[in-house]
Amino acid sequence: MYYPDEIIEEVRSKNDIVDIVSGYVRLQKKGANYVGLCPFHNEKTGSFMVSSTKQMFYCFGCHTGGNVITFLMKHENATFQEAIEKLADRAGVKLPELKLNEEQKKQMSEKSILLEINKEAAKYFYYQLRGKPGELGMKYFTDRKLTSDTINSFGLGFSLPYSDDLVKYLKQKGYTDELIVKAGLASHDEKRGTHDKFWNRVMFPIQDINHRVIGFGGRVMGEGEPKYLNSPETPIFDKSRNLFGLNFARSSRKDYLILCEGYMDVISMHQAGFKEAVASLGTAFTSGQANLLKRFCNSVILSYDSDGAGTNAALRAIGILREVELTAKVLDLNPYKDPDEFIKNLGSEKLQERIDNAKNSFFFEIEVLERGYDLKDPDSKTAFYREIAKRICGFADEVERNNYIDAICERYSISTDAMKKMVIGYAAAGISRPLEQMAVKPAIKKADPEEGRKRSQRLLITWISEDNSIFEKISPYISPHDFTDEMYQKIAEKLFESLKDDNKIEPASFISAFEDEEDQKRVAELFNTKLLNSDGLPAEIDDIREREKTLHDILVSVKTGSLEYYSRNIGSNPNAITRVVEGKKLLEDLKKTKIKLG
Ligand code: CTP
Ligand code: MN
Repeated sequence: MYYPDEIIEEVRSKNDIVDIVSGYVRLQKKGANYVGLCPFHNEKTGSFMVSSTKQMFYCFGCHTGGNVITFLMKHENATFQEAIEKLADRAGVKLPELKLNEEQKKQMSEKSILLEINKEAAKYFYYQLRGKPGELGMKYFTDRKLTSDTINSFGLGFSLPYSDDLVKYLKQKGYTDELIVKAGLASHDEKRGTHDKFWNRVMFPIQDINHRVIGFGGRVMGEGEPKYLNSPETPIFDKSRNLFGLNFARSSRKDYLILCEGYMDVISMHQAGFKEAVASLGTAFTSGQANLLKRFCNSVILSYDSDGAGTNAALRAIGILREVELTAKVLDLNPYKDPDEFIKNLGSEKLQERIDNAKNSFFFEIEVLERGYDLKDPDSKTAFYREIAKRICGFADEVERNNYIDAICERYSISTDAMKKMVIGYAAAGISRPLEQMAVKPAIKKADPEEGRKRSQRLLITWISEDNSIFEKISPYISPHDFTDEMYQKIAEKLFESLKDDNKIEPASFISAFEDEEDQKRVAELFNTKLLNSDGLPAEIDDIREREKTLHDILVSVKTGSLEYYSRNIGSNPNAITRVVEGKKLLEDLKKTKIKLG
C-alpha cells in the first residue's frame, strides 16, 4: 500500500458512494437503499444495490461488490492507487507526495508490478507501431482491412526486429530482469542474457475484463512459425480464466456472446459491429472460461473454423457449455473458413442473418454424427437412429426429450412412434450416452458443506452490521474464531472489537484494507449476504418471532460449523481441543436459549 491507512480512509469517507455511482448508473431510491441496473453485467431488472449507510455497492445478480474505491477501480479500469488519486482530487484531499524507493517498489504487491510492466510494454509496442520502425506492422494491419479506429481501440502494437529493445526499455523504467521475465515478456539464458520474447511481430495485447493488459499474442507478418506466439502463463495471466475481447463484449448488452477461435476473428467481428465476440487465448476452451461467460450471457454462439479441428473443438466446447448450463448454438459460415473471411466477402448483414439462424447444438452434434454413417445402407441407417435414441435419453426433461424427438424425426423422416419406443427402450435398459461423451445434462451438484458453513458466517456478519443491537445478545455464544475462513475471521475480529467499544462501524472501511478487486468483492459479499426467497431474491422477514428463530438457526449453524472445523483440525491446530470443548458447551447452551429481538 502506497498511502497510509488514515489517508485512504479519509479519501473514502469524503466521497459518498451514492454520489459517485449516480454519475454512472441511474439509481432509484428503494427503502434505505438505491437500486439500478448493474454496470458490470448484462441485466434487464435491477439487482444492483447501493447502500448509503454501508457505503457499499453490491449486485445480487453477478455478486460484484465493494466500496467507492472498488467501484472506480472496476468502472474506470483503474488500479487501487489511481482510484485513490482520483477520489482525493474530487474531495480536495491532499495526498502526501510519493517517491518510491527500491524498498517500497519491492513491497508493492507482485501482481500489481507485473500488471504495470505489461501495461508499459503495451504502451511501448503501441508507440512503435505508430512510428517509422512500425511501418511494416501498420501495413500488415491495413492490408488486413483494419481501420485505424479498430487498431487503436484494441491497442494493437508492434515489436521491433531487435532482441532486447523492450528489455532495455523496461529496465530503464526501473524493473529488474527477474520481474520482466516473470511478467512473461523476456527469457533468460547464459548465452543471451535477458532477451525479449517477442520481436518482429504485430502485437495483440490481451486484456482482462477490467481492461488491464495481462499478456500478449504476437503474429508473424506473413508466413513463419509459429504463426502466433503467446505470453506464457504468469501470476497475472491465467489462460483458462480469461477471454480475448470480453472486456468490450461484456457491455454489448446482448443475451448471447459469440465464441471465436482467434484474435483476428474477434477484431474483425467487432469492427463489423459485432461487439459480442470473444476468443480463447491460443489454448482450448475451458470450464473456467465457460463460467466466466456465464456471468454475462445466457447462451453462447460458437464460431469455429469449419475444418475437422474446428468441428472437434466445437463439439468439446458444447459439452463444456452444457456443464455450466449455458445454451450453445453453432454458427454456419460456409463456404468461408472463419468470421474474418466471411465478413470480407459477404458483409455484416449476411453475418447477422447467420447469427440469427445459428444451429441448435444438439442438431449440430447429430449432423456431425451422421457423417459417420451411410444412410443408404439399411444397417448403417438403423445404427444411426439407435445412436440418436441413446443420445436423446440424455435429456432428463420429458418435454425437452419429446421436442427433440419431434424435431429429429421430422428432419430425417423417421416415425415418431418408432423413435419414442426406441428411446423408451433404451431409457428402461438404463442405456444413455455417458455424460461427458453426450454432454447433455450436468450431474446434480452436491451442496458443498464448506460453502454452506461460510454462507451462515456471512449471513451472521451481515446481520450484525445491519443491526448492531444484536451483538450484545449473541456475543456470549459467538467469537471471531468461529469464523473459519481466514478473511472472515480477521474482519470479525475488527468488527467485534469496535462493537465492544461501542464505536460506530462503517463496513466500507474494511474493504479498503484490500487492494485486490477479488478480495474487495469477497468483503462486500460478507456484508451483503441475505436470506433468499424462492426466486433467489433477498427476502425480508417481517415477523419478529420468525426473525428470532432464523437468527437462532444461523447461530447454531455457525457454531456447529466451527465445532466440526476444529474437531477435524485437532492434530494441526494447538487451540483446537479447547475450542471443541468450549464450543460443545456453548452450543448446548445456545440450543436451550431463545434469542429475543426488539
Ligand atoms: N494460435 C496460437 N498459436 C499458433 C496458431 C494459432 O496460439 N501457432 C491461436 C491464436 O490465438 C489464434 C487462434 O489460435 O488467434 C486461431 O488460429 P488461426 O485460425 O490459425 O488464426 P487466425 O485467428 O485465423 O489468424 P489469422 O487470420 O491471422 O491467420
Ligand atoms: Mn482462423
